[in-house]
Amino acid sequence: MKELIKKMVEVVGPSGFEGAIRDVIRTEIASHVDDIQVDAMGNLVARKGQKSPGGIRIMLAAHMDEIGVLATHVEENGFVRFTTVGGVRPHTLLGGRVIFVNGTRGVIGGERLESPGSLHSFEQMFIDVGATSRETCPVKVGDFAGFDRPFADYGDRLTSKAMDDRVGVAVLVEVLRTMESSPNEVYFVFSTQEEVGLRGATTAAYAVDPDLGISVDVTGTGDTPKGSRMEVSLGKGPAIKVRDGGMISDPRVVQWMVRSAEASGLPYQLEVLEGGTTDARAMQLTRAGVPAGCVSIPCRYIHSPSEMVDIHDVQNAVKLLVALISQPVSLG
Ligand code: CO
Ligand code: ZN
Repeated sequence: MKELIKKMVEVVGPSGFEGAIRDVIRTEIASHVDDIQVDAMGNLVARKGQKSPGGIRIMLAAHMDEIGVLATHVEENGFVRFTTVGGVRPHTLLGGRVIFVNGTRGVIGGERLESPGSLHSFEQMFIDVGATSRETCPVKVGDFAGFDRPFADYGDRLTSKAMDDRVGVAVLVEVLRTMESSPNEVYFVFSTQEEVGLRGATTAAYAVDPDLGISVDVTGTGDTPKGSRMEVSLGKGPAIKVRDGGMISDPRVVQWMVRSAEASGLPYQLEVLEGGTTDARAMQLTRAGVPAGCVSIPCRYIHSPSEMVDIHDVQNAVKLLVALISQPVSLG
């Protein structure tokens, strides 16, 4: 599982440029699925099983894209000015590095500030790719980049850029490989452009037309010094989402997940997230509405270049999802 996570997080794939990660995922799952397609938005949509009596159509979604930056201007002396792709915050950037989709690497520097100690705005930062002129700069206006930060294994805890949501991608890949017979028809959707507004999942949910939707994504924690007031900790089990900034999970889905976790003897936590949302919102609001929920992987330092998860939460999320989709679903 650690190897799979490492493989997933290290691929560059900012929103809109998910081609490389999509190829990696496709190679991992192709021999385990009944059908596999890429739609116009770039979503990778894989089906496993067919609806049999007592079964329903379930859509599982994890997003392939990651936050990053986009070149807006190259100065005459070769420094690249940029804007953000998704929810990047300025204090996470200075001294960090990026890698462009074209392979060019760069370090993020900042202008000298009048008052030392104040925070650089994005406008006061630039990317130094080692170029000395606009003409020789390998980065052009419109080029996208992700963060450049390798995977590190601390034992139970793993850290890297893009745990959001490649850890969710790894969970779905593992669920797909380990699930056996199911009365349900299960669509595994590896979605695009989540970080810029759930765009891939929006069209994929419409196309799949599921009876039930579950996203797998990261959520914040409240277990760091003077951190957020949040009842989720690393290592205490996958989190069953009750509510986030964009969705109230269907209470029947929440209860079904809780019953399943308890019946399987799996640890779980209930998640109430103040901001942010996931692909589950897009599934819930597609067509005439779909019962939806989310299995979240607790994650520290979300949207920084070093996001951290606990391997046991990841493994237990796989077990919970396999238990959920392998049985006839009754939402009571
Ligand atoms: Co995110
Ligand atoms: Zn995410």
